[in-house]
Amino acid sequence: LGRTLHHHAVVGSTNEVAFRLAQDGAEHGEVVVAEQQTSGKGRRGRAWVSPPGLNLYFSAILRPELPPQRAPELTLVAAVALAENLREFGADAAIKWPNDVQISGRKVAGILTELSAEPERVHFVIVGVGVNLNCQVEHFPEELRETATSVSLARGEKVHRAQFAAGLWTRMEEWLDLYLETGFDAVRARWKELSSTLGQDVLVRTDRSELRGYAVDIDPSGALLVRTEAGQVERVLAGDVEQLRP
Ligand code: BTN
Repeated sequence: LGRTLHHHAVVGSTNEVAFRLAQDGAEHGEVVVAEQQTSGKGRRGRAWVSPPGLNLYFSAILRPELPPQRAPELTLVAAVALAENLREFGADAAIKWPNDVQISGRKVAGILTELSAEPERVHFVIVGVGVNLNCQVEHFPEELRETATSVSLARGEKVHRAQFAAGLWTRMEEWLDLYLETGFDAVRARWKELSSTLGQDVLVRTDRSELRGYAVDIDPSGALLVRTEAGQVERVLAGDVEQLRP
């Protein structure tokens, strides 16, 4: 990934720039990276705090041969690469289902995957990744200060952004190639090793409801399996997980 790199000082959102490039025919593996985003997008309509120069914001354009319903697996591919790369850079990172990457329970990175597809076939997928590398507590708005962190805050030392990005893109490409060649099993196994969600009591909020239970596993497509108090196992495809202390 990233052999063709579109570098911008300021954009609204790298996902939006990448989406337009892909519509205009950009190729698999092209990456859009920005120093700053003025309207960085998070999941579920939230904003992604994107101060200039300190952190990493990028979107990869992928053209996998996949049916659209399997596209969410790509988010887990990215999460695995991200957690591994953070560990390589000295941060004790873990994945909170489906794709929040945390250090000591605080969010350090997020992934926003967007899709252009017809019913049978993916046209392209945009995998947008934001990593808090060198920002300080003051860069987070008040309401995030207890729940967010950066790599440098966690390890007490600045991170070399270009080195981090190069390592991450190589890892993402390796995991992606393995996934496209052999399927989701290896990614799923590694995701389970890197995840902090399984084996925990959780509260899952979806668009429609709340579900409380015990996170048992992820299924072969990446959905979270939650055993409720009634003993039933529910399959959750999308939502926000709060990990409850036992
Ligand atoms: C999340 O809510 O956890 C996902 C955050 C994703 C943020 C990244 S930053 C680069 C890319 N461009 C965006 O507008 N969002 C993603």
